[in-house]
Amino acid sequence: MEKFFAPCPRGLSAPLAAELLAIGAQNIQADDAGVAFEGELVDAYRANLYSRIASRVLWQMAHFPYENEHQIYDAVLLLPWPQRFEVSRTIKVEMNAQKSPLKSLDFTTLRIKDAVCDKFREVVGSRPDVATREPDVRIHVFLSPTHAMIYLDMSGEPLFKRGSREHTGAAPLKKNLAAGIIALSGWQPGEAFLDPMCGSGTFLVEAAEIALNFAPGAHRQFAFQKLKNFDSAAWSKMLNEARLAEKPKTLLPIYGSDLYGEALDDAHANLLANGLGDCVRLKQANILEISAPEETGVMVTNPPYGERLGETSALTDLYPKLGDLLKQKFAGWRAYFFTGDTLLPKGVRLAASKKTPLFNGKIECRLYEYKMVAGGNRK
Ligand SMILES: C[S@@+](CC[C@H](N)C(=O)[O-])C[C@H]1O[C@@H](n2cnc3c(N)ncnc32)[C@H](O)[C@@H]1O
Repeated sequence: MEKFFAPCPRGLSAPLAAELLAIGAQNIQADDAGVAFEGELVDAYRANLYSRIASRVLWQMAHFPYENEHQIYDAVLLLPWPQRFEVSRTIKVEMNAQKSPLKSLDFTTLRIKDAVCDKFREVVGSRPDVATREPDVRIHVFLSPTHAMIYLDMSGEPLFKRGSREHTGAAPLKKNLAAGIIALSGWQPGEAFLDPMCGSGTFLVEAAEIALNFAPGAHRQFAFQKLKNFDSAAWSKMLNEARLAEKPKTLLPIYGSDLYGEALDDAHANLLANGLGDCVRLKQANILEISAPEETGVMVTNPPYGERLGETSALTDLYPKLGDLLKQKFAGWRAYFFTGDTLLPKGVRLAASKKTPLFNGKIECRLYEYKMVAGGNRK
């Protein structure tokens, strides 16, 4: 069995662990930065194909204690790089360190690249070129204060890039963050889903793809396809199975609206780009003027955030009205607001049943859950 690590946005390792369990990964261990798991190489293909929440899937090459750059160079030189990829592939070494005692991380990164190249020279007489943009092979290095972990990246482009053209407005969410938020909401296909501030429609595309059982990685390339041991027969079979498991496209109980026409144009273009043009219902509306499209369902939305969009005072007016809207028109629904604005919970004046800390890049955010029971949510 091989060891893998799937990093994800901070706060989402629990739903990522559940995803990995469902696709057959073993010895799953979640930490702050992501989820470690074990399996065969095909299990890592499967994680790339099916995970909506992972940022990438990394294959562990080595894990060892270190005190200086020389030890890292020596350990990397021992690894069988020429068995992993051809010398004609371009490479890039990416470094992440937490409280490492090393003086220069740039110098260490350079030494790791040297070790890989020296290994190739030793074995095949020439060395791979470095490409800072779009390398064929990415080598990820994590340094803790005492240990180094060396990984080969099996994904290439991060997994939140799904291969379709993206049409985005001011502040789109990354797809894996959106998918993680939907997982945390507990929404299940068949239940009504509404994003009344849908922007470019990131939540809507994710929800529709989940409902139709689309594999998120079915339309893109992965770095594992460029490795020497790539099992193309197993991969083709896996892709075929994924395509056969897709449900026929149909109009779904998934609803999106936004105040602005341009945002809806983006949402529509994104749905079309993902083959979901006729699956989701879109309309232009002020959130304060909508009604629940069905008796029960799940609202998941990402309100404009003052700091990013410069609308702080408008938001202070909006929040109490949002609370009233939920109370008056959304009894029987669960609502999830994802925001970095700590004024939202006070402003809506409802008791949140859950607050989950999450990060949108570096911005600390929360997912606030409101379970709307007729008459029972006033603070
Ligand atoms: C942070 S963005 C949402 C981004 C979206 N999650 C995405 O991934 O593209 C907030 C959205 O709320 C919309 N909005 C602002 N005020 C609104 C209102 N009163 N009613 C409906 N939509 C509103 C904005 O047009 C914007 O598209």
